[in-house]
Amino acid sequence: MNETPPRRGDEQFAGEVNSMFDRISGVYDRMNRVMTAGLDQTWRERAADRVRLEDGQKALDLCCGTGDLSFALAERTGPEGEVTGADFSRPMLALAEEKATARGVTQVGFEWADALELPYGDEEFDAVTIAFGARNLADLDRGLAEMHRVLKPGGRLAILEITQPSRQPLALFFGLWFDRIVPMLGKVAGDSSAYEYLPESVRSFPDAATLGSRMDGAGFRHVRWTIMAGGIIALHSAVK
Ligand SMILES: C[S@@+](CC[C@H](N)C(=O)[O-])C[C@H]1O[C@@H](n2cnc3c(N)ncnc32)[C@H](O)[C@@H]1O
Repeated sequence: MNETPPRRGDEQFAGEVNSMFDRISGVYDRMNRVMTAGLDQTWRERAADRVRLEDGQKALDLCCGTGDLSFALAERTGPEGEVTGADFSRPMLALAEEKATARGVTQVGFEWADALELPYGDEEFDAVTIAFGARNLADLDRGLAEMHRVLKPGGRLAILEITQPSRQPLALFFGLWFDRIVPMLGKVAGDSSAYEYLPESVRSFPDAATLGSRMDGAGFRHVRWTIMAGGIIALHSAVK
C-alpha cells in the first residue's frame, strides 16, 4: 500500500500519522531491527536508565508503539511499580499487549491516548518517556506542556529521538541511508510512503540544542542531552 507520506503543516497531519502507524504496525519491530542493526533496543535501555526509576514508582511511556521502552521501564520499577504505555494507534497497542502477555509482564498497562491531550491528572507520574515519538507530534510544544503537566515535581523526562548528524562522514552516510536505503527497505516491507516520511520527519524536527531550549521553555530544568550512535540519536532528559 503506498499512500502519500504525512506532511507537517497539513491540517490532517495527525490523522495521517495515525493511519500510517496503523498500517506499518505489523512490520514495525522487524524494520527497526533491520534499520538499526539491532541497536534500537540498547538506545531504549539508555532512555529507561535516564529517568532513574526506583522500585514501586509510576511511569508513563508516551507514543509507546509496540511497547519496548515500556517493558524496559517496568524492569526498573519492579513488580510493585506501574507503567502505562500510551499510544493513539490501536494496532500498535494490540501488538504491545500481545508481547506483555507472552512475557508474563503484569505491571504494564497499554491504553489509547493522544499525547497532545493526555487523559491523566496533574502530577501523576514519577517519570515520562517518549521514544521516536516526539518527531511525530503535530504540536511539539503542546506535547511538552502535557508531559510537564502529568509529571510530579522532581519527576524526570527522557526523549529519545533520531537526529541529523552535523559532521562528515556520518552526515553523508545518514543522507544515503535515510534517503536511499530506508525508502527501499520500506518498499520491500510494503509501505514506501511511511519510510519516505521517516527521513522527512527527522529533517523537520528541531536539532538537539533547539529541542533542549523548547524543553526549557516548557518549564523543565536540568535539561541535558547525549548524542549517540555517531551522531544520529539524541537522548534528552530533564527534571520538572
Ligand atoms: C516511531 S513509533 C515509536 C514507538 C515506540 N516508542 C518505539 O520506541 O518503537 C511512534 C509512535 O507514536 C505514536 N504517536 C504519534 N503521534 C501520537 C500522538 N499524538 N498521540 C499518541 N501516540 C502518537 C504512533 O502511533 C507510533 O506508535
